[in-house]
Amino acid sequence: MEGSWVSLWVLLLFLTQWASSIVEDGLLNNGDFETPPIGGFPNPSLAAGEGTTPVPSWTINGTVELIKSGQLQGGMILIVPEGKHAVRLGNEAEVSQNVELEKGSTYSVTFSAARTCAQLEELNMSATGAAASTMDLQTLYSVEGWDAYAWAFQAQLEDGAETKLAFKNPGMDEDPSCGPIIDNIAIKKLFTPDRLEDNAVINCDFEEGPWMFRNATLGVLLPTNLDEETTSLPGWIVESNRAVRYIDSDHFNVPQGKRAIELLSGKEGIISQMVETTPQKQYNLTFTFGHAGDSCQAPLAVMAFAGDQAQNFHYSPTGNAKHQLGNLTFTARAERTRIAFYSVYYNTRSDDRSSLCGPVVDDVRVWGASGSVRANGPGFVGLLLGMVLLLGLALA
Ligand SMILES: *[C@@H]1O[C@H](CO)[C@@H](O)[C@H](O)[C@H]1NC(C)=O
Ligand SMILES: *[C@@H]1O[C@H](CO)[C@@H](O)[C@H](O)[C@H]1NC(C)=O
Ligand SMILES: *[C@@H]1O[C@H](CO)[C@@H](O)[C@H](O)[C@H]1NC(C)=O
Ligand SMILES: *[C@@H]1O[C@H](CO)[C@@H](O)[C@H](O)[C@H]1NC(C)=O
Ligand SMILES: *[C@@H]1O[C@H](CO)[C@@H](O)[C@H](O)[C@H]1NC(C)=O
Repeated sequence: MEGSWVSLWVLLLFLTQWASSIVEDGLLNNGDFETPPIGGFPNPSLAAGEGTTPVPSWTINGTVELIKSGQLQGGMILIVPEGKHAVRLGNEAEVSQNVELEKGSTYSVTFSAARTCAQLEELNMSATGAAASTMDLQTLYSVEGWDAYAWAFQAQLEDGAETKLAFKNPGMDEDPSCGPIIDNIAIKKLFTPDRLEDNAVINCDFEEGPWMFRNATLGVLLPTNLDEETTSLPGWIVESNRAVRYIDSDHFNVPQGKRAIELLSGKEGIISQMVETTPQKQYNLTFTFGHAGDSCQAPLAVMAFAGDQAQNFHYSPTGNAKHQLGNLTFTARAERTRIAFYSVYYNTRSDDRSSLCGPVVDDVRVWGASGSVRANGPGFVGLLLGMVLLLGLALA
């Protein structure tokens, strides 16, 4: 008896130890690159091309520079997304950090990135065992010169093993002072919300998504994810070549809850979901759409798809309303039906005329009339009767 108590204690101790070593949601160790290296931050005038500087908590390979806000390079001020410091990745240079993850879980990594030169700059993200991903930094979505992005992957290593999270500049530019700048790296373990009883859409209100800093005034961009399982927005797929923006109610108008999606880049920014449906059954798709409150220039409109139906919804709010309802009726043709949304127009903000923006979508619902099930088959009562009959036969 006593022995089993002891082993229970040992087990508990072991479990708490094990649990505590798994990376917590939020900023990675020195994820904002504000921790000074031993000996202090390098002198900005020496930083460029002076080889490597140690970066606390990170492993570096190649020319990784700790840069300072206000630092000049070729007459241009380098952009530091957050705080006073960030890192710049030179040709084929990499920064990485080892973290312990829970095997099988999906993680989303949020980070800020900027390019330094006009040419195509890319960033490769990888996690040991999981598929690597490339981010194209060509498109500037905001006039600030940097954007926050999210990237998701599934943890593959056994619990207790360390996963190397790496950011690499895959490029080989003639000008070694080119190469992306990254900052503010955070991680979050995602969960997939349960489907509500009367709604076939998973994560219908977009409340579950990537890590967002409290003061993330630019939202977080969600780039393409063709793999349904590894998305920073559980349930949803960004299936276009441009990103959509994940926004919060602290900085934007969000129709419901704390989070929503702002559609950007016209039909090059599509979110979709495959929802479970019963063939031949009739369904209604409803959603809320509106203005993000970010001085996005009118007109705003959403194109909504459900199965073989598609409809254009123009934003024309009544009174002081900042959003309105859209609805679409469709008949399911298969066991899974695609619903999707994109912005009809290519909108920019009126204040800077270059930051991309668009309509906000939230609270997506797909529901069928319970009547149409009965009309198309024996329905629930019939099923119940059938089961009673079978049971009766089996007992006889
Ligand atoms: C550093 O990067 C180079 C070139 O990308 C690669 O060949 C080498 O294996 C890397 N070294 C380590 C320790 O990862
Ligand atoms: C960058 O990632 C892509 C996969 O998205 C991979 O094919 C490519 O080899 C990677 N490049 C480098 C230099 O690691
Ligand atoms: C955002 O918040 C972090 C801490 O959560 C802080 O270090 C940073 O300075 C803040 N940035 C701005 C622009 O307020
Ligand atoms: C669906 O939209 C139409 C207008 O397009 C409106 O007349 C109708 O009331 C809406 N139905 C619901 C259930 O919101
Ligand atoms: C869809 O909504 C309309 C009202 O716009 C309603 O008349 C119809 O019954 C609904 N269909 C289903 C399948 O619930």
